[in-house]
Formats: sequence, C-alpha cells, structure tokens
Amino acid sequence: MPEQTTQDLLASNGNRRILITSALPYANGPIHIGHMLEYVQTDIWSRFQKLVGNECYYVCADDTHGTPIMLSAQKQNITSEELIAKSHIDHQKDFGAFGIAFDNFHSTHSEENKFYTETIYNRLLENGHIARRTINQLFDPEKQMFLPDRFVKGECPKCGSADQYGDNCDVCSATYSPVELKNPKSAVSGATPVLKDSEHFFVKLQDFEAMLKQWLKTGVSQQMANKLNEWLDVGLQEWDISRDAPYFGYQIPNEPNKFFYVWLDAPIGYMASFKNLCDKTAGLEFDDFWNKDSKAELYHFIGKDIINFHCLFWPACLTAANYRTPSKVFAHGFLTVNGTKMSKSKGTFIKAATYLEYLNPEYLRYYFAAKLSSKIDDFDLNLEDFVQRVNSDLVNKYVNIASRCAKLVQKSGGVMHAEIDHPSLLKEFQNEAKQVETHYENRDYGKASKLIMSLADKANTYIDEKAPWKLAKDEATADEALKVCSMGINLFRILSIYLKPVLPSLVTNVENFLNASPLTWSDIQSPLLSHQLNKFIPLMKRVDIKQVEAMVASSVEAAAQISKTTKKNNAEKSTKIESIKPEIQFEDFDKIDLRLAKIISAEHVEGADKLLQLKLDIGEGEKQVFAGIKSAYAPEDLVGKLTVMVANLAPRKMRFGLSEGMVLAAGPGKKDLWLLSPDDGAQPGMRVK
Ligand code: MSP
Ligand code: ZN
Repeated sequence: MPEQTTQDLLASNGNRRILITSALPYANGPIHIGHMLEYVQTDIWSRFQKLVGNECYYVCADDTHGTPIMLSAQKQNITSEELIAKSHIDHQKDFGAFGIAFDNFHSTHSEENKFYTETIYNRLLENGHIARRTINQLFDPEKQMFLPDRFVKGECPKCGSADQYGDNCDVCSATYSPVELKNPKSAVSGATPVLKDSEHFFVKLQDFEAMLKQWLKTGVSQQMANKLNEWLDVGLQEWDISRDAPYFGYQIPNEPNKFFYVWLDAPIGYMASFKNLCDKTAGLEFDDFWNKDSKAELYHFIGKDIINFHCLFWPACLTAANYRTPSKVFAHGFLTVNGTKMSKSKGTFIKAATYLEYLNPEYLRYYFAAKLSSKIDDFDLNLEDFVQRVNSDLVNKYVNIASRCAKLVQKSGGVMHAEIDHPSLLKEFQNEAKQVETHYENRDYGKASKLIMSLADKANTYIDEKAPWKLAKDEATADEALKVCSMGINLFRILSIYLKPVLPSLVTNVENFLNASPLTWSDIQSPLLSHQLNKFIPLMKRVDIKQVEAMVASSVEAAAQISKTTKKNNAEKSTKIESIKPEIQFEDFDKIDLRLAKIISAEHVEGADKLLQLKLDIGEGEKQVFAGIKSAYAPEDLVGKLTVMVANLAPRKMRFGLSEGMVLAAGPGKKDLWLLSPDDGAQPGMRVK
C-alpha cells in the first residue's frame, strides 16, 4: 500500500474525525511497562492527530469482569466492586504519570456498558445469530462453580509434567482441553473437579464468514490478514459467550444464572467509554461515530495476543447489531527486556509505578518511539541501549541545542535576533514536516525519530561551525553571536514541535522557555523573530545506569515464587533424591552459623568456567564468596537477591582469591541448581536456625 499522508486523508475525507482506543487493561493487576508500550504507542498517535489539527478522541476503560477478578477479590476479602474501584484509581495514576492523555477512561462495569452489551446481544438474538446447546465442563464441587481452563491444574496429557494449566503445557507446549489433564485439581479449592452439564449460548460466527473476509481486506495489515485468513480457511467455530453463576459480570436478560462472558462486553467498553464522553461533551454525538454509515474513523490499538477477539468476534458482533466496523485494527508485538520475556525473578517485570520511582517516564516514551514501527514484531527494551539512546539522542543532541544557545540570548536581555542567520537551513527543517507527518501517520515512529535526530545533528554542526561563544567575546561580532543563537533556538523550536507527541511534558517546559504556548504544527512555518524568551531551565537530566539497576533490583521478586512452574517441573524430571546422611546431634547443627546474605555484586571470574565471584552483605560487613553457580545463573540476575550463606566456614584460599563462606543451593548441578532465598521481608544478617 502506498504511504498515506495526512493531507491525502484530509483531501479525501474533508475534516478528519477520529476515535482511537487502546485495549482495556484488566482490573485485577497493576499496569506494567509491557502494557505501557501499547498506551504510549496509542498516545503518541492521538497527540499527533490533535497536533496537526484533526478532531480526535482517545478513549479507554478498565476491563472489570470475569472469574479471575471475582476470585482475586475473594482472596483479598473484598467485593469485586471494591477491587475494581481500587484498580481504577491506581491505573489512572500510572497513566497520568506517563502522560497518557485519554479523553476518557471509563469502566466496563458501567451503565453504558450494560446498555450496549444488552443491545448487541438482543440484536444478535433477533437476527438469529445465537445458538444454545448443552456442554460438559469441569466443575468444582467444593466451590460450586464451573472452572475456566486456567483454574484447573494437573499433569500434561502429552509429557506428564506436573502442575500444568488446563489449556496448555509450559514444558512441552502441547495444547489440550482441561478434561484431558491427568489428576486434575481445582486451582481454587484443590478439590478434584467433576464433569457437569450446562446450557451455553453461542454466537454463530459462521454467519459472518463472507463479511469478515471482506473486512480483512481493509481492516488490518497484510501481515495480520495472512494469519487471520488461515483461521477463516479452517472454518469459523461458534463462539461461547455465556458463563454460569457465580460470575462477576452482566446477567443475560431473561436468563437467570447465566452471565455474559467477559470478552463479549470488553470491546463494547470502547463504545461505553465514548458514550460516557459524549454525555459530558457538548456537541459530541455517539451516533456520528458508531452508526453503520458513519464517516468518522475508528482505530483500535491492541497487542498481538488479542487479535482474534478484535478482528473476528468484534467486527462480526458490530455488523450483526447494525453498527459500523473499525476502520483499522493496529496490532503491536510484545515487550521483551534484554532479549527475553519480562521476568519477575530477573527483576525485568517492571511495574509502571516502580519505574516511576526511579526514572523519568519520558525516557521510556522516547525509547519506545525510537524503536517502534507499524510491524507486529516483538519490541526489545535493552536496558543498556535504553540508557545510551536516551543520553545520546535526547540529552546530547536535542536538548543540547537549547542549552548551548539560551545563555547567550539571555545575556542580551533574552530577546531573539530580528533576522534569520541561515535561511536555507531553516527551510530544510521546515520542509521535513511532511515526511515527519507521514511517519507518524503510518506509526513508523522509529523513522520519525531517526529523521528528527538527523536534523538535530545538523543544528549542532551549524552551531559548532559558527562557534557563537567565540563571536560573543568580541564587541564587533556580538550581534552575529545573537543571530546564530537565535537561529539555533528556532531550529530547536521546530524539533520540539516534531517531538511534541512523544515528549509532552518536556515540550511543555520548552513552551514556557520559548514564551510561546502551545506550539502547534503550523508554527513550524513561522520562526520567532525579535521575540522575548523566558528564563532557561535545564530540560532533561542524563540517565544513569545505576538508576536502571536500582529499579531492576527493586523489581526482583522472591525466588520461591518463580521456581514454581518450569524449574520445578524440570527438577522433578531430572533429580534423583540423594539418601539422607547419618544422624547428627543438635550441637553439631548449632555449630553452623547460617545467615541471610544480600548479593551486592556478582561477577564472572577470569579463567574459571564454573565460578561466580559474589560480594555479600551479611549485616555486619561484606564477605566474598566464590560460588559454583555460573551454569545456572547470570551475574546480573543475582544482584539484589537475598540468599543463605554459611557465615562461619573457615576461609579457603583459592586460585582466584579468598572465599569466605558458602552460599546454599539445591539441585544436581549444571543448569539444575536453585539458590535458596527467604520470603519477603527478611533482612540481611538474620540468623537462619
Ligand atoms: N482486558 C484485555 C483487553 C480487552 S480489550 C477489549 C487484556 N488486558 S491486558 O491487561 O492483559 O492487556 C492490555 C493490553 O496490553 C493488550 O493489548 C495486551 O496485548 C497489551 N500487553 C500486555 N502485556 C504486554 C507486553 N508484555 N508487551 C506489549 N503489550 C502487552 O488483554
Ligand atoms: Zn507437556
């Protein structure tokens, strides 16, 4: 498809009216930086559309229904309503701090959502798209509830690994139905589930095959269409949209004890949130955006894991209920950190709130922008690259232009020069507006950032060559110095407009400094001449890798939790249990002084292929230990962890240095080795007895 520019769309559509959504976060968990990839991607697009003058609304909501939320509330001894109210506050706080500027953030547990869910269901029913049939499902006899797949655990029917979920096996990746699990247990009560009949309601997706084939031609990228067409080719299945009580959600009208499955009402939350916005906004009409013949544009930003819900079920339901379908669904890949899935044990499962304790959210917004494309590939946050990229692009290139020029202008009373020093360079900056627009419009933020940074390089080269600080020293060339610095500030101003969708908070400070707010896209073409500036305050600090390390260390969760699944299974497969050693007396045991130790540093040892050199904090001073755990742990995964150490073992002189004790680990060795660690709250130095 040829690249579409905003101008093309404007020309074809007149004034663009745009409604944008991000997927609704589940209300039973905190926002993490993986989520943030999506909300930042969407927010940049929404801010861009507004900046170029389109009428644009960005709505979202909490996804509040379903079994996991109900059970999570029960566990905390609160009602589901209390749980979702609490998340609503936390989520909004995180989004606000990251500059995610929703026009509305609503909830699927709302009047509007109930109304549209019932409307859509009734229309599906009237039009003959609902089937009813009895199915057989696992039921927890103790809890008196049907069990979703993820709430049944047992042995994998393929490889026999223990402790696997009811839908797929972590060890051999087999997928199956929960009734196939061997020795199934309810994850809710531990009881053995029984099979029980129940009548369910289904949407007859087959009725929408032709419609979906047509919609896929324009609604998704080629990459997504290929995948979705594979599903269509094997034939669409009926979609189960009912759940039995107890369930936290909406009751199906006239069907006591039957509830709508959360994934039916979740996307309807987009409509509900928009309706709620309309009710608060004079002149904004719901129908203009959702009616079948709407000319407005509707875009959903989602992750690759929920494509089928948005590109099959959702357009089908909308069509059946006589609403419009999405203009496009944009899917992105998953966030990985340092090349692997976010991990609680490695401290790379980073909550938005934890990130905010250590780092400026705009660092991350920029890093996401710098590497995002319209493709569905996973996105790697490499922490070293993150530090390097932010420092070199934002601090050394972009912000540096302003810091170099501001002082000299300030010296001459803060009034910019009346003339442009280098008109052709200014023109070059202005002429890139179209290209920057195209990149943003196509969600090629990486290309946009690259272009913007290449312009920043040019601005810096210009300043280097003119060396205004030298010109300023001589009375005769002082005016030229002011002219050069004013030119620098005009270039900086254009870059700030280009970066405004990515760095809203930084650019607000720029606007204050420039004494010209708000900056808009049309300002690109009109430089500031003889303009009074405000006092310059430093715009952005360098990131220090130490801040990143501290954030990771504080995100490490107790190892006891992690090892639960895969590691445990592997251990069960590969460990022969050693026989117990001869009996000892308590006095023998009491001689051993075991202490909790915090790993302060962990390093490779030159010339040793099994050892890591650990520095341990055991309350009173530091100890050095050479531990044979290199095959099982990477040094960076150990820093910050608490473990157990034999603190009074006679020191041993090794080839590499003195080893002043031992850390405790279990397992046969090589990769199968597990360091011991205490539960949360324990402190270094505590004696283990
Ligand atoms: N509640 C559903 C969405 C309903 S939309 C009608 C859901 N919630 S979620 O909280 O699990 O995820 C919200 C969004 O964040 C989804 O688009 C999901 O793909 C995205 N991400 C969740 N983890 C992610 C990463 N690690 N990386 C990138 N995006 C991630 O799904
Ligand atoms: Zn298996």
